[in-house]
Amino acid sequence: MQHFLGIEELTAEDLESLLGAAAEIKRNLPSAAPPVPSGRILVNLFFESSTRTRVSFEIAARRLGHEVVNWTTQGTSHEKGETLLDTTATLAAMGPAVIVLRHPAAGAPWLLASRSERGPAEPGGYAVVNAGDGAHEHPSQALLDALTLREQLGTLRGKTIAIVGDLAHSRVARSNLFCLTKLGATVRLCGPAGLRPVGLESLGPPGTVSVHASLEEAIEGVDAVMGLRIQRERLDGGGFIGEAQYRRRYGLTRERLSRLPPHAVVMHPGPLNRGVELTPELADGPRSVILGQVENGIPIRMAILERVMQR
Ligand code: CP
Repeated sequence: MQHFLGIEELTAEDLESLLGAAAEIKRNLPSAAPPVPSGRILVNLFFESSTRTRVSFEIAARRLGHEVVNWTTQGTSHEKGETLLDTTATLAAMGPAVIVLRHPAAGAPWLLASRSERGPAEPGGYAVVNAGDGAHEHPSQALLDALTLREQLGTLRGKTIAIVGDLAHSRVARSNLFCLTKLGATVRLCGPAGLRPVGLESLGPPGTVSVHASLEEAIEGVDAVMGLRIQRERLDGGGFIGEAQYRRRYGLTRERLSRLPPHAVVMHPGPLNRGVELTPELADGPRSVILGQVENGIPIRMAILERVMQR
């Protein structure tokens, strides 16, 4: 694995291997010795805001003994109009082993990877890790979600997961759809008509993905419900029914989830629009594994960095 770009291009074996490595890292973390400095540098290149992903990549890298440089759009030559490729070439000339990229354009990490002619272990070479590209993929989020679900449910094989909300703009939904179906789960997608693109069923193997207008139908008997953030920054005025109507028809509440099996859990990638996608009572309640998802970001991202750094 020279780069870590998207779940769609990984096999079930790749996913199992990364999840197994992350589970072992998590088990060993409490007794881990201080890391030996590696002399290698990770650059977080974030063109969009982030708390969980950026900080957990930084902590993961530090836990592995790497140094970290955080680049953001504010206070850098991005404000003078420097392009993504010129910025990357400039940073690459300073010798980082890994560039973790979050960018609003779908496909941007693949573009950077195509410009990294040498592997990360070679002089001038770097690995690219996708930390979210537009509405396309957020692969490390899907892996940490899968690790959380496996901890809660034992296995994903034969389980049913409902994903509810802004399906049109959610890279989390797409990466989870690819990840969950490759690991043997069935996925039910649900959201308002304007945020529910046609053809979503075809993104999974036949029979593994269904699309629902009705929340009640989508969550009937599921093992987990994942709420999605309404991506206000990507809404261009169309498709959204307004917060009040969204809350009425698609808001996740304790009453709505009261008929789920006792083991069923509630997830959300964050950040939450509290009281819209999820009630605070549900987000902070016993079914919620939201902070468990955040915690699992560290071992998952350590496993990803170990894998791309091996090259
Ligand atoms: N889940 C997620 O990507 O959160 P951040 O935007 O805070 O990184």
